[in-house]
Amino acid sequence: MRPTTRRMAFVSALGVLLYATQATSGWAQGSQANGLTGHALAGQRLYRRYCVGCHGPDGDGNGENAPWIDPKPRDFTLAVFKCRSTPTGTLPTDEDLFNAITRGFVTTNMPQWRPLTAQNRVDLVAYIKTFSTKWKTSRAGTPITVPSEPALTVQSILHGRELFQKMECWKCHGTAGHGDGPSANTLTDNKDNPIRPYNFETGSRFMCGVTNQDLYRIFMTGLDGSPMPSFADQLHAAEAWDLVHFLRTLQPLDTPEGALWRSWVGSHASELKPIGPSGGSQ
Ligand code: HEC
Ligand code: HEC
Repeated sequence: MRPTTRRMAFVSALGVLLYATQATSGWAQGSQANGLTGHALAGQRLYRRYCVGCHGPDGDGNGENAPWIDPKPRDFTLAVFKCRSTPTGTLPTDEDLFNAITRGFVTTNMPQWRPLTAQNRVDLVAYIKTFSTKWKTSRAGTPITVPSEPALTVQSILHGRELFQKMECWKCHGTAGHGDGPSANTLTDNKDNPIRPYNFETGSRFMCGVTNQDLYRIFMTGLDGSPMPSFADQLHAAEAWDLVHFLRTLQPLDTPEGALWRSWVGSHASELKPIGPSGGSQ
């Protein structure tokens, strides 16, 4: 081997070593979800293959496809996430990020990533956390408690309907939940992009889940970075469950809530005051 080649080999080995030390010192946090430990370096390879086109090489949401996407891909440098089990203003758990990646975001361009192995998805969580120093200075919030669901009754739905009026959900989501309330056209997200309220006619799934527990969590933690607030300071657990029962009647589904509500409304429609600026209660 000639001396120059040897020197070059040494220099590049040193480069790799330096790079690796730098990388691991910044990425020490890793991730824990689904009983697995995630590694940022493995996540980086996957990210560059599957996520970079939307979320961008720097994780700021400016991938080459971003100009054509609405809503815009998440900017990971801000560490602000919508689907959390943790209170508003706090970081999500690794499990929350893992679930978001697995599930995808219905009604948006964020695909579901079930075809990747669970280990791949946990590695991606570890890598996403390297884009913001918040993950080193703060811990994830403590997940809120979701008490077990009380029995479904007409009274519960009726009370939920009153709360939909009183909490002014209708101002954004519309009186029938179609995402067309008086404020709907005025809303913007934390990056000043216009954003629409969720339309309950869309189907059975939410961006942040599908079960009644998920629905409870959505309005008790809020979708941070969007105008959808947290109502944790305004609603008791029992009230929150009443609201869940009512929200289910807005969906075009054969849910127990929908069936009970329709059979009751069939003979009591005249007792209901319409939801809106001056209405809502019985
Ligand atoms: C086709 C574009 C696209 C691709 C590819 C894509 N995403 Fe997304 N992603 C989005 C969009 C758009 C959003 C924001 C949706 C919203 O805010 O409603 C998003 C949001 C997210 C969020 C935010 C979750 C939250 O609770 O706020 C995470 C995490 C995420 N993506 C991870 C990934 C990972 C990991 C990959 C690659 C395996 C990936 N995304 C690939 C478009 C994409
Ligand atoms: C200031 C306007 C505003 C008010 C008030 C509001 N929302 Fe929202 N809500 C939104 C927006 C905007 C979104 C969509 C956020 C997004 O796409 O990221 C949303 C989304 C949702 C979603 C769907 C989340 C998902 O995971 O797909 C539910 C459920 C919801 N809101 C329930 C409620 C309830 C219940 C109330 C009242 C207690 C309420 N909202 C009050 C603006 C509002």
